[in-house]
Amino acid sequence: MAGDLAVIDLAPPPDDYAQALLEGFAGPQRRIPCRFLYDDEGSRLFERITELPEYYPTRTEMGLLSAHAREIAKLAGPKVEVVELGAGASRKVRLLLDALEAPAGYLGIDVARTALTEACTALARDYKSMKVRALVADFTDVDRLPPPNGWRLAFFPGSTIGNFPPEQAAGLLDRWRRLLAGSDMVIGVDLQKDPSVLLPAYDDAAGVTAAFNLNLLARANREAGADFDLAGFRHVVHYEPALGRMSLYLESLRDQQVAIAGRPFRLDAGERIHTEDSWKYTLDGFRDLVTRAGFEHLRAWTDDRLRFSLHYLRGRL
Ligand SMILES: C[S@@+](CC[C@H](N)C(=O)[O-])C[C@H]1O[C@@H](n2cnc3c(N)ncnc32)[C@H](O)[C@@H]1O
Repeated sequence: MAGDLAVIDLAPPPDDYAQALLEGFAGPQRRIPCRFLYDDEGSRLFERITELPEYYPTRTEMGLLSAHAREIAKLAGPKVEVVELGAGASRKVRLLLDALEAPAGYLGIDVARTALTEACTALARDYKSMKVRALVADFTDVDRLPPPNGWRLAFFPGSTIGNFPPEQAAGLLDRWRRLLAGSDMVIGVDLQKDPSVLLPAYDDAAGVTAAFNLNLLARANREAGADFDLAGFRHVVHYEPALGRMSLYLESLRDQQVAIAGRPFRLDAGERIHTEDSWKYTLDGFRDLVTRAGFEHLRAWTDDRLRFSLHYLRGRL
């Protein structure tokens, strides 16, 4: 028998992508917001990325969660409702749920409806005593999200916080801290490291990350009345060590004209569409950021190669 699953739909309107593309193509630096990477196809490709030999973050974060789940459970206490931001396939949270004492519930939040509802259906089946809710929503839309009803443990894995520039990241964490009424948060954060490790993680030999990035254009053709020729673009990554910022682009291979929702745009050969940033932190840098966001930083765990970090934050009212 399946457990109890409720789906709450606060998904953005169907023309959201077309509007975002028109806005992102209005200025001299063409941009596509990275949340659009995750439609059904993008979520499937992301799951393949997590298994690539070059992509160390998922394996390393799972290792940290396995090693420290008991300590996390002690800090969190019994009967918490776990709220996961950018839940995706909700694989990592199982390591927490298995360690927590009598978790009261799980609320997964993601813009990717199919991935989220499939993941939550599986959680409801496997954790029958827990109330499972799937919230299809943009987690930056904090004001539209349901207010909390009890003690919660927020879980924000995958270094998804790295998609925001540091000041925006601090602002988002601050708004989440207020919404969660001082509940604690466990957050996974990728660390600054040698570009020889970082660059292949975003530009793998099998080309899966390139396909994930190019899927933005395929999705624009499917959903936003666009006519991108995918063969006219290539996946490009760039790391700025002084900032700790990894950037992804789609570079036009020739002078070309594209249409988006019936509007024409010119792209020159070599012109880049910015599609994602992934900011990397030092341990001290991330501790400062969460302190600015109003959290008390209780613990940080890292692997022995200092590749990835997991942090336990105590929310303050
Ligand atoms: C890097 S993946 C991480 C997935 C999973 N949590 C993990 O750690 O493997 C980012 C996830 O966040 C979701 N996401 C990205 N931006 C979002 C937003 N603004 N609102 C809600 N979900 C978002 C994506 O759909 C995707 O599932």
